[in-house]
Amino acid sequence: MRLPAALIGINETRKGRMSGYLWLKAVHIISVISWMAGLLYLPRLYVYHAGVAAGSEASATFKVMERKLLKYIMNPAMIASFVTGLALIWQLGEAALTMGWLHTKILLLLGMGAMHGMMARWRREFEQDRNTHSHRFFRVMNEVPTLLMIGIVILAVGKPF
Ligand code: HEM
Repeated sequence: MRLPAALIGINETRKGRMSGYLWLKAVHIISVISWMAGLLYLPRLYVYHAGVAAGSEASATFKVMERKLLKYIMNPAMIASFVTGLALIWQLGEAALTMGWLHTKILLLLGMGAMHGMMARWRREFEQDRNTHSHRFFRVMNEVPTLLMIGIVILAVGKPF
């Protein structure tokens, strides 16, 4: 069965052309994918890191991986996600004020930002061989960005209210 073009967001008169808004949204989604890749992988590195002795060769390798992931991928990707997301809101103008899904999404984004901040703190603790958390703790923490991501994507795509 073929879905009507309007239902899947294709405007027949503008077929083949992308507006500035859609370009911005594409860059937003690329940024978000990069940020999420780090948010889902860094706590997994912490699970393994918590299982090796402080000062060991394995620990030194994890430190490099964690620092590079946070500094070169996650921090720039988070900034790009916020900048493009806020630019989309600016483009939406006053209409954004009435979008309940967007307000709920922003609430969940505060949680995502807090997770990013906590991951940066745990990285510094590992760096200075001061980690006190177990691998089980990081296993549980690993699920938090996953749950937030599921909520955010359903809200952004479904716009249920
Ligand atoms: C960092 C701050 C963020 C802000 C301010 C923000 C804001 C926005 C806005 C205003 C839109 C445009 C909605 C539309 O035109 O349909 C959008 C689209 C979208 N956002 Fe975000 N967002 C942010 C982060 C995220 C994150 C972390 C995710 C995923 C985990 C995400 C996933 C999406 C998706 C999938 C869309 C496309 C929705 C669609 O076109 O159907 N966003 N975002």
